[in-house]
Amino acid sequence: MLWKNRVLTKLIEMKLEKNKIYSGDCINVMKEFPTDSIACCITDPPYNYEFIGHKWDDSEVKRRTDRVQDKNNKTMVKNIPYGSGLAGGVRNKRWYERNRKNDLDYMKWCQLWTDELFRVCKAGAPVAVFNSNRSIAHVQIALENSGFYTRDLLVYRRNSGIPRGLNLEKKLEKMGNPDSKNWKGWHSAFRNEWEAIVLVQKPLMNNYWNTLQTTNVGIFKTVNEDGSFQSNILENLSKKDKSENYKHCTVKPLGLIKKLVDTLVPPHKDNIVFDPFAGSGTTLVAASELGFNYIGIEIEDNYIPIIEERIEKSRLEKQMNPTLF
Ligand SMILES: C[S@@+](CC[C@H](N)C(=O)[O-])C[C@H]1O[C@@H](n2cnc3c(N)ncnc32)[C@H](O)[C@@H]1O
Repeated sequence: MLWKNRVLTKLIEMKLEKNKIYSGDCINVMKEFPTDSIACCITDPPYNYEFIGHKWDDSEVKRRTDRVQDKNNKTMVKNIPYGSGLAGGVRNKRWYERNRKNDLDYMKWCQLWTDELFRVCKAGAPVAVFNSNRSIAHVQIALENSGFYTRDLLVYRRNSGIPRGLNLEKKLEKMGNPDSKNWKGWHSAFRNEWEAIVLVQKPLMNNYWNTLQTTNVGIFKTVNEDGSFQSNILENLSKKDKSENYKHCTVKPLGLIKKLVDTLVPPHKDNIVFDPFAGSGTTLVAASELGFNYIGIEIEDNYIPIIEERIEKSRLEKQMNPTLF
């Protein structure tokens, strides 16, 4: 009798509350979630070692926003991962030795949350994870090690890209080197115009149709409103306006995330869209606007009211102007 009560209590504890934003470290919070409960995860974790755990905090965000501000003094940071060890430095042997360990630590950290994510996803659930084009492979390997298999590597093409790295002509000029002009156009990096989104999936139950009938996920909506077939390059989905930057320094365009939700999640009342690294809540707002349940986790308590405010604002806008959504 006692064991039966214990099992029952555990089952009640494990019930997933929909449309909730949890505060805490997603690696721990996910442990409380029931197995096979999430329909889709769209997430944008910290891009590399600099942001792990305590380093992604208010002081880090402040440091970034103080250094790069747009004309209207709104918080906006360009060139993510700005300031990270991976972004700067001369790629010599010493740099490599120092950064190699950070790459490995980042992969180990990814493995902790991808393992938990795999458990909480339903069979056939798609998982789309953003990362920089330099570090996407690390996240992809962690996801695969956890049991997901890779479906695609999507490209989110931004409207602009800023050349970074070393401009050899300028550098030599500064050093007073008379050969500087001979090196016009020689640079250490390309213009970075895209971000990577690795799309993985939890293995299906038997086949697509059986999975869809059982877990309500597994298949993608690939034909657009104009009849064209959806490409794996996502473009022309910029931010509507600067208000989307809100008070977080790495806000994704809402239109882009809505496109992903719409493509990846078949409509069903039980389907929950999940973001374990919620930030200012773009994934959750997108899910809510498209009529899905959502669940988010965010480690920084200060962002939780921002998320709640965004969701409420969009809910009210939708009520007033349903045709716009
Ligand atoms: C790149 S931002 C996400 C921004 C989001 N895509 C948006 O549009 O607002 C990553 C977020 O993950 C949070 N974070 C970092 N480590 C975390 C962890 N272990 N658990 C939960 N959240 C975490 C950070 O505080 C940050 O807000």
